[in-house]
Amino acid sequence: MSERSPLVLIPQFFGSLVFDRRTSRYLPFDADSTTVLARLVDVPVKQVLADEVDDERFDRLIRFYEHFHELGFFTVEGRFAGTVLSGLEVPADHLVGPLAVHLEVVSACNLTCTHCFAGELPRREKRLGLAEIDRVFAEMARLGSFRLGLTGGEPLLRKDIFRVIDMALERGLAPCITTNGLLITEEIAREFGKRDLVWLNVSLEGATAETNDKVRGPGTFAKVLDRLAMLREHARFTLAFTIMRTNLAEIQACAELAHTVGADTAVFRPLYPVGIATQHQELMPTFAEYNTALNELALMDRNAPIDVRHIDPFSPQARQETQSVIHQNYGCGAGNLVCSISVSGDVNPCSFLGPRFVAANVREQSLAEIWHNSSGFQSIRTLSHTEPASGAGFAGGCRARALVLNGSINAPDPWITAQTTDTGSPGIVHNPLVILDVTGR
Ligand SMILES: C[S@@+](CC[C@H](N)C(=O)[O-])C[C@H]1O[C@@H](n2cnc3c(N)ncnc32)[C@H](O)[C@@H]1O
Ligand code: SF4
Repeated sequence: MSERSPLVLIPQFFGSLVFDRRTSRYLPFDADSTTVLARLVDVPVKQVLADEVDDERFDRLIRFYEHFHELGFFTVEGRFAGTVLSGLEVPADHLVGPLAVHLEVVSACNLTCTHCFAGELPRREKRLGLAEIDRVFAEMARLGSFRLGLTGGEPLLRKDIFRVIDMALERGLAPCITTNGLLITEEIAREFGKRDLVWLNVSLEGATAETNDKVRGPGTFAKVLDRLAMLREHARFTLAFTIMRTNLAEIQACAELAHTVGADTAVFRPLYPVGIATQHQELMPTFAEYNTALNELALMDRNAPIDVRHIDPFSPQARQETQSVIHQNYGCGAGNLVCSISVSGDVNPCSFLGPRFVAANVREQSLAEIWHNSSGFQSIRTLSHTEPASGAGFAGGCRARALVLNGSINAPDPWITAQTTDTGSPGIVHNPLVILDVTGR
């Protein structure tokens, strides 16, 4: 694989996003800072400072340089340690491409979990072949869509899964894969260990066999723990938990378990009421319950040398900080920041929205065409929004949750309404995805 610079500057209507390959994160820059960074590709900082005639701007440049120098943005010669994505058409009102793409690589599974967002499996669709997937990966790299989530079904049922991962790495993408862990053999563990994945997530739904197996099926907890004992010898991995009614009481124990089995991190996501989960509404936590569970993790962080990190760039919290910068409407990430591609190439602003929202297929149109011009993506970007306090319409959060629980993608997301009106809740953490670093213990 060719040596790649650690940073990529992706021009955007507000300036740019810089993707940092070392952290797999995007940082937003306004137009002025973007001009400075682009100039620093060719001209060292000494020269840029020497050319500056305005004292105030000179001071700002020094502070800018010092701050981003700390983050490894510059070479020893004082140049931007990155490349600029060129030849892109920059739209006036949305990103040049999704920041993350979720790709369903298999639509079959060896389990039948009662919460599965993938719905009834198997779906007998003609899946994308390697050449088709590689075309999508090449386009993603051209659009600055570096984050890739490989999901399913069970990805390890796909015999060529390591080829898929390698193609993504060869295109400079940052892949993450989520597996139920049951098919991991020593050879597969070794193969994972050889690759530089952003995340290798292994899913469990509780800290005990009783809780996990209620959702994932009898015997799965013990089998997965057995696979993990082998995996830890060869690769870094994360334990991924879905927060639902059945495991609320053992959230801290889940984090402890992650540490005990040798995981680097634990990730907690809320249950979304989609797919098979729609038939099991009893699993769905209320916002208050979910919030309490997250706060228990936060308390753990305070009482023990554990670092609870909020690392997902698409979380509502991160979105609140950056949404006015990187997309102009007040929507969720669907179609604004991310999109999903089904096993047979259907592109959806978010797979949680269901087949009715499929915009087009990558077998018929390029990802860029679908992202910019399909009516499905254009219309989700122009949907109206309301003030959160009014409770009248969608005011941020998750459009899929609004659709399922309130009947329309334009209805309020009940979790956001709860967040803004439920003053009785502890309200320390409002984040749907918490990464708990257990390595420090
Ligand atoms: C659909 S699975 C596919 C990968 C693999 N089969 C597995 O179970 O890890 C991807 C992840 O989504 C989680 N998940 C499944 N249904 C969900 C739902 N309704 N809401 C939130 N997460 C869900 C799973 O627990 C798993 O961690
Ligand atoms: S959550 Fe994963 S393991 Fe469970 S049924 Fe869905 S795809 Fe299969």
